[in-house]
Amino acid sequence: MRVTAAADLSFLQIMAGKALALYALALISIIAQLAYSQNVSFTFRDFSSTENLLILGNTTISEDGSSLFMTYNKSGATGPYFISRVLYSMPIVMHNLSQGLAASFSTSFTFSISTNQPDITGDGFTFVIAPNNLLPITRSATAAAMGLFDVDFYKGSNASMLHIVAVEYDTFLNLEYNDPDDHHVGLDINSLTSTTYQSLPSELVLKSTNFSRRLITWIDYDAVSHQIDVQLAVAPALKSSATKILSYSKLSLWEYVKSTSYIGFTAGTGLFQENNAIHDWNFTSWLVSVPDQPSPSLLPPSPSTTAMITRNEVIICTTVGFLILLIGLLVFAWKKWVSTSGLHLDVDLMVAPRKFTFRELRMATGDFRERLGQGGSGEVFKGVITKNNAEVLHLAVKKIAKASKQGEKEFKSEVMTIGKLRHKSLVHLYGWCHEKGKLLLVYQFMPNGSVDKLLYASSPRVLSWPLRFSTLKGVAAALVYLHLDWEKMIVHRDIKASNVMLDSEMNARLGDFGLARFFS
Ligand SMILES: Nc1ncnc2c1ncn2[C@@H]1O[C@H](COP(=O)(O)OP(=O)(O)O)[C@@H](O)[C@H]1O
Ligand SMILES: *[C@@H]1O[C@H](CO)[C@@H](O)[C@H](O)[C@H]1NC(C)=O
Ligand SMILES: *[C@@H]1O[C@H](CO)[C@@H](O)[C@H](O)[C@H]1NC(C)=O
Ligand SMILES: *[C@@H]1O[C@H](CO)[C@@H](O)[C@H](O)[C@H]1NC(C)=O
Ligand SMILES: *[C@@H]1O[C@H](CO)[C@@H](O)[C@H](O)[C@H]1NC(C)=O
Ligand SMILES: *[C@@H]1O[C@H](CO)[C@@H](O)[C@H](O)[C@H]1NC(C)=O
Ligand SMILES: *[C@@H]1O[C@H](CO)[C@@H](O)[C@H](O)[C@H]1NC(C)=O
Ligand SMILES: [Mg+2]
Repeated sequence: MRVTAAADLSFLQIMAGKALALYALALISIIAQLAYSQNVSFTFRDFSSTENLLILGNTTISEDGSSLFMTYNKSGATGPYFISRVLYSMPIVMHNLSQGLAASFSTSFTFSISTNQPDITGDGFTFVIAPNNLLPITRSATAAAMGLFDVDFYKGSNASMLHIVAVEYDTFLNLEYNDPDDHHVGLDINSLTSTTYQSLPSELVLKSTNFSRRLITWIDYDAVSHQIDVQLAVAPALKSSATKILSYSKLSLWEYVKSTSYIGFTAGTGLFQENNAIHDWNFTSWLVSVPDQPSPSLLPPSPSTTAMITRNEVIICTTVGFLILLIGLLVFAWKKWVSTSGLHLDVDLMVAPRKFTFRELRMATGDFRERLGQGGSGEVFKGVITKNNAEVLHLAVKKIAKASKQGEKEFKSEVMTIGKLRHKSLVHLYGWCHEKGKLLLVYQFMPNGSVDKLLYASSPRVLSWPLRFSTLKGVAAALVYLHLDWEKMIVHRDIKASNVMLDSEMNARLGDFGLARFFS
């Protein structure tokens, strides 16, 4: 980019070109830094604030906020077939093999497993690295397997699809998983049959009838040496005085877990029960180069281009670049103003549900990557947005197929009818988007999908009678609300299995108000 070689170009053009080059370099180096700054670190001294946690299933926070009670409900009881899962709300980068990086991590937490039954109890809990933030769907066998995964679906050749690695703190002797006893720690890779395990000495047995006995555990994973260590001690204790329980040096985590995974705890009870409590939790992870992974060189921007830019030129370039940026911003703002001014929806229906931009939804859904389902009016995609870097909101985004007259009618009908309604048996509508002829609706995500998927899938899951009954009750409750309890009578006109969805706790919720009408 020599001035002499481009004498026929105007001075401004050259300066603009250099400014762009400079900005591109700055951008590249920021991106390169970002790739390395994926260190995660957090501490929960107690659970009085659960802002950064996803708390699923039969989990209760103690009244004073000091503990997470897993497999324990609000009325202070534990029951058979309870499933509990607590995850850090944001996924963690576990590896980025294209850059030859993998995460090492250290975590520690204080826990107690208490029961007032002296004899048989179960089933224990795990520290988990999971591919998603969902609760298993099946109950009994899964609950008895510490709620780790749907045991009936993932066995044999299916197990590798799990992408789950866990450290189990097991309090039940399951002969089918080759457990040694009912007080051991094990490393579980896509299976409940531990890759390696260790029985605990009597002073470190996991469960106790003495509710005040707490244990601390440390799990350290070093991606470079493929080494995972688990230590345990009776609380309070320092790491240096803890007992090394497990040590395994052949764990290439990146071969099993997804590049971004969720971390946290799972617990479950079979026929016999216990309260699995977590009292604090520390976690730190950092990315390291994994030596035996091919690492394509991530070189800093080559210095030869920068060397030719002199100090004076930098000042001019920066000014010109700033001007270009300003013009860009103005154009952007103008475009945005133009795109929103084409909207003609009743003002009062915009109150409850929020307006989303198409860009926002495209980012939330990863460019409409994961399809949840298809209905008469369009496709539905999975999405997630983060608010204030903390709260995550899971979404289902419906793209109305063609902004035809029919599609527009259904769109309006949905926004007007369920838009303002809030009921525990309705799928909530968070918002909508109408841009450049595109119509989208944004709903609360239903982790367990629609009922038709459970009934008519290629491998139908047998729904238990209690679940069938509670599903029907949910639909009935929704109808009573729509027909009688809201200000105006709303008639859904399209009740069927594919429009009834199940939330994370398997409560039925009615959705798809495309055909709904007010009735007066
Ligand atoms: N909120 C949601 N969470 C999860 N899956 C959903 C959600 N909404 C819709 N789906 C899936 O997409 C399918 C079609 O959605 P629906 O709203 O019924 O669209 P249509 O009006 O086209 O029938 C549903 O049957 C369901 O499987
Ligand atoms: C991430 O953590 C590692 C190990 O503690 C440290 O060497 C590195 O500098 C950290 N990177 C950033 C960007 O904080
Ligand atoms: C808690 O669990 C017990 C035992 O399963 C059950 O009887 C009780 O109804 C549950 N309470 C709540 C609020 O879920
Ligand atoms: C892996 O690195 C690439 C290149 O920097 C980046 O685009 C991608 O988002 C990274 N993946 C994850 C999971 O962080
Ligand atoms: C977690 O970290 C805090 C602060 O560093 C420390 O006081 C606490 O003892 C740690 N907890 C555990 C279980 O290691
Ligand atoms: C894998 O799972 C599917 C259902 O999820 C099931 O139909 C199939 O039989 C399973 N395969 C094996 C080998 O278990
Ligand atoms: C319960 O544990 C506490 C602290 O570990 C101890 O002081 C107390 O004696 C124990 N009580 C019983 C009945 O074992
Ligand atoms: Mg439908």
